[in-house]
Amino acid sequence: MAAVIVLANQKGGVGKTTSTYNLGVALADVGQKVLLMDLDPQGGLTYYSGFEPEDLGKTIYHCLTRSTSPRDIMLSNDFGVDLLPANIDLSLAEFQLMNVPARERRITRIVNELRDDYDFMLIDCQPSLGLLTINALAAADEVIIPVACEYLSIRGTRALLRLISKVKGSLNSKLHIAGLLPTLFDSRTRHGRETLDRLAREFPDIHLYPHTVARSVRFAESAAEQKPIYEAKVQVPGALAYRELARELVRKKS
Ligand SMILES: Nc1ncnc2c1ncn2[C@@H]1O[C@H](COP(=O)(O)OP(=O)(O)OP(=O)(O)O)[C@@H](O)[C@H]1O
Ligand SMILES: [Mg+2]
Repeated sequence: MAAVIVLANQKGGVGKTTSTYNLGVALADVGQKVLLMDLDPQGGLTYYSGFEPEDLGKTIYHCLTRSTSPRDIMLSNDFGVDLLPANIDLSLAEFQLMNVPARERRITRIVNELRDDYDFMLIDCQPSLGLLTINALAAADEVIIPVACEYLSIRGTRALLRLISKVKGSLNSKLHIAGLLPTLFDSRTRHGRETLDRLAREFPDIHLYPHTVARSVRFAESAAEQKPIYEAKVQVPGALAYRELARELVRKKS
């Protein structure tokens, strides 16, 4: 049965999508069956996975707001992962679900339908703490919080932790914070190193992954080329972090 892991942070551009995709491919590379779920109307994960979001007729929006089965929208790519895609339609979902009973459980229904088929399900959230993110947290076993190694990230992390604790109290008592994943780390700057130290000090009860993802322009290039970071011709600093994280997740699961 799949471990369901949400990657969330309401701060934009901290590496949620990059982490979801490259972690997913790294898990598939070590033999895990992986489903990725795009819960962001920007469709960044869908694009990174090799698909043009706006060309897709049916997406996760249809599963959330109609009775479409997730199996009817599922895509597979050449890098070994399956995907429930999203596009701009999803931006209507929060509004349309407003008066629907159990509106926080729509993703849970989808997860329950598929979780026996996978080892890992990774959910990429949009940079907000609205109904879609709450849906993801309500359905998950664990949450990984990608945090950019810059001071302002620390404040945003506190707000996210407050929301997670509310979701735990009301919707999902088994939700566990797997850890903070430092991203966009520049070892040459004192600011980056200080932020890492500060994260450890400010959140002593939360696991800080030792696999810090270094900053590299190759990540943006790999997304533009719709290829995982491991396809780059040179060894990319930062890529190894996702491989190590994948191994840690597999070890913990078994
Ligand atoms: N380690 C890294 N080094 C350099 N650039 C990175 C790294 N990780 C991600 N990026 C780039 O930073 C930008 C933001 O990354 P990404 O889209 O993964 O963040 P996000 O948190 O999903 O953003 P959003 O909140 O908009 O969904 C992208 O251009 C991506 O290619
Ligand atoms: Mg994103």
